Amino acid sequence: MITAPEVLETVRLTLRRPVLSDAEAISEYATDPEVTRYLSWHTHRSAGEARALLERCLKSWSSGEDFCWGITIKPTDRVVGTIDCRVEPPVATVGYVLARPFWNRGYMTEAVRAVLAWASQLPGVYTVGAFCDIENVASTRVLEKAGMSREGFRRRYAVHPNISLEPRDCYGYAKVRGT
Ligand SMILES: CC(C)(COP(=O)(O)OP(=O)(O)OC[C@H]1O[C@@H](n2cnc3c(N)ncnc32)[C@H](O)[C@@H]1OP(=O)(O)O)[C@@H](O)C(=O)NCCC(=O)NCCS
Repeated sequence: MITAPEVLETVRLTLRRPVLSDAEAISEYATDPEVTRYLSWHTHRSAGEARALLERCLKSWSSGEDFCWGITIKPTDRVVGTIDCRVEPPVATVGYVLARPFWNRGYMTEAVRAVLAWASQLPGVYTVGAFCDIENVASTRVLEKAGMSREGFRRRYAVHPNISLEPRDCYGYAKVRGT
């Protein structure tokens, strides 16, 4: 079974395995419709939903399927976002979210670089990828800045329920081993 480091450090961030008491901090941004617009889950209406989300994250971590780190900005320990990596060799897929007050400071690019570096060296993993809604320009920039290349236009690929229940067009990004 694949295991992940409980903590990944970058210059400005600590990515750490979350705990259930992070639910309140996560709820703060998970209830913001601007933040959840392009995500695969509904905008939360209560802190209970963040707790349920965290419980699912912790379970997937324990089973080695998906590793979700809470993003904290040094020197604080408050979770202001998450980044996760689903590992299904030969592919690992990254997803992320950050609270709005912290956008456009390069934080997510820093977090993606750290997770990409970790996932890229896992045995059997040849592709570290991500996908995003074609309208999510900030996310496409993050993936490009982190060193991934746009690999394709995936028509009607993912449901982003805060926009529509119809699957939406997405871009696929990847960093492939040896390229
Ligand atoms: C997408 C998201 C993670 C970006 O995080 P971030 O920390 O702000 O990202 P960075 O600061 O590293 O980079 C953002 C880049 O997008 C650019 N950008 C932001 N909004 C933009 C817009 N509307 N149009 C064009 N570029 C935009 C910024 O200028 C920056 O690029 P630059 O460095 O070339 O100037 C954050 O906005 C977020 O959490 N959004 C909601 C959740 C989400 O969409 N998650 C991704 C799902 S695929």
